[in-house]
Amino acid sequence: MRLLFIGDVTADPGLRAVRLHLPDIRDQYHLVIANAENASGGKGLTKKHYRMLRDAGVDAITLGNHAFDKKEILEFIETEPILRAANYPPGAPGKDRLVLEAGGERLLVFQLMGRVFLEPNLDSPFQVADRILASCEAENRLVDVHAEVTSEKYALFRYLDGRVSALLGTHTHVPTADAQISERGTAFLTDVGMTGTYDSIIGGETESFLARFLTALPQPFRAAKGRASLLAVELELEGGRARQIRPYRWDEP
Ligand SMILES: [Fe+2]
Repeated sequence: MRLLFIGDVTADPGLRAVRLHLPDIRDQYHLVIANAENASGGKGLTKKHYRMLRDAGVDAITLGNHAFDKKEILEFIETEPILRAANYPPGAPGKDRLVLEAGGERLLVFQLMGRVFLEPNLDSPFQVADRILASCEAENRLVDVHAEVTSEKYALFRYLDGRVSALLGTHTHVPTADAQISERGTAFLTDVGMTGTYDSIIGGETESFLARFLTALPQPFRAAKGRASLLAVELELEGGRARQIRPYRWDEP
């Protein structure tokens, strides 16, 4: 199956990039999955923006540390193809896994959130992955690794090598150049990058974000405006193994 995984859709520029470009390329893929925890003003996901992404051709959405920043998500997270990180404690709202069907094959999707410099109170992403894979019948398996630290992402890659088809990093909003497929057939990329405006500081307006660093005082978060880019990864999976991983980028004219 051919998949497109879209990196962190961030605020209005990210939504615009998806709406402008995805419909033009949508028919090249069996499935399109997007990380959209920053879609609504940089923090969280509203119903309106969820619908925009679905209408543009996104089949399923992953979240992250801002999953619950917009409270209205509690009204639709259970019924729509939306994933929160699997390593929240038992009983957290939302689904910890999705099984999608396309191209005559099944795909398990789940998200693991990093604990280093991010969410230290979550359950171990390593043990949670073991638990999910133990009860999984889909042979193709895609993991969104939502983490701050490159070493934690690589540790999860090595731990799950050969047991999942692909691990794709999200959260840092900065794309990395290490796309690879292991000998055991697992594709990996430390970070897909942001779908949003790079005329910013990771999607936040430069002036207010810079003031945090210069003054060490709290500053209101404002999402940046500006020319949008869509960053994604194309994956080809077959029989549980990754056949191809290719970073994809589109820039607003
Ligand atoms: Fe995040």
